[in-house]
Amino acid sequence: MALTLAFDVYGTLIDTQGVLQQLQDIVGKRAKDFSALWRNKQLEYSFRRGLMQQYRDFSICTQHALEFTCKQFDTPLTDTQKHSLLNTYNELPVFNDVKAALLQLKSENHTLCAFSNGTMDAVTNLLKNAGIYDSFDCIVSVDEVQSFKPSPEVYAHLLKAVNSAADKVWLISSNAFDVIGAKSSGLHAAWVQRAATDQFDPWEFQPDVTISSLTQLAEQMSRNRPN
Ligand code: 2OP
Repeated sequence: MALTLAFDVYGTLIDTQGVLQQLQDIVGKRAKDFSALWRNKQLEYSFRRGLMQQYRDFSICTQHALEFTCKQFDTPLTDTQKHSLLNTYNELPVFNDVKAALLQLKSENHTLCAFSNGTMDAVTNLLKNAGIYDSFDCIVSVDEVQSFKPSPEVYAHLLKAVNSAADKVWLISSNAFDVIGAKSSGLHAAWVQRAATDQFDPWEFQPDVTISSLTQLAEQMSRNRPN
C-alpha cells in the first residue's frame, strides 16, 4: 500500500546553508555563526508569531531575522547586500541526496507532498529552481491557515489537503520541532539527522525512524508499510 509522504522543505530538501558563500564575502570567518543565528531567529520569529496569532508570511520572518542578525554581529549591510542575500534565500540549493530519493519513492507509487512554512509561491519557486518540482503531487503551505509549524492547526490542514488519515501520512523532516509537531498530531514521522552532531529533543515524542539521508528513506518506507 502506498503512503503519503510530506516533506519539510527548508533544511530537509533545500539547504539553508546555501547562503554561506555569499556571507563569507560579507562577514568572513563569522559566516557560519551568522548563518546559524539567522536561521534560528527566523524559526523563533515563526514560533512567536504563531503563538501570538500575528501571522506574517515566512519571508517576513526571514527578513526580520536577517536584520536582527546584522545588529547582533554589528555588521550593517547595505540595502543591496540585504536584497541580494534574501534573493539567494529564494534560490537555495537542493541537498545532494534529494533528487534520486524522490524519483525512487515516486516509482514506488507513494504520494509525495512538499509541506512548508514557506508560502505556495516561495516553495514553488524553490522546488522549480532546484529541479525537483515535478516529483511532487502537491504543495501544502501553512500560509493557507495563517499559522506556523508546530501548531496542530497546520498538521490538521496537511491531512485535510492530502485527504488522508493521520496514520497513513509520514512527515519527513530534519527539523526536530516539526517531527515532534507531527507526532503530537498523530502522524508518523522520520527525522533526517543531516549532521551527526544534530540532537533530537528529549521529549515524549520521538521519530518512528531516524535516517542520516533521504537515500535511506525508500528502504525504511518499505519496512514501515502498513499491512
Ligand atoms: C519548513 O517548513 C520548518 O523551515 C521549515 O520548510
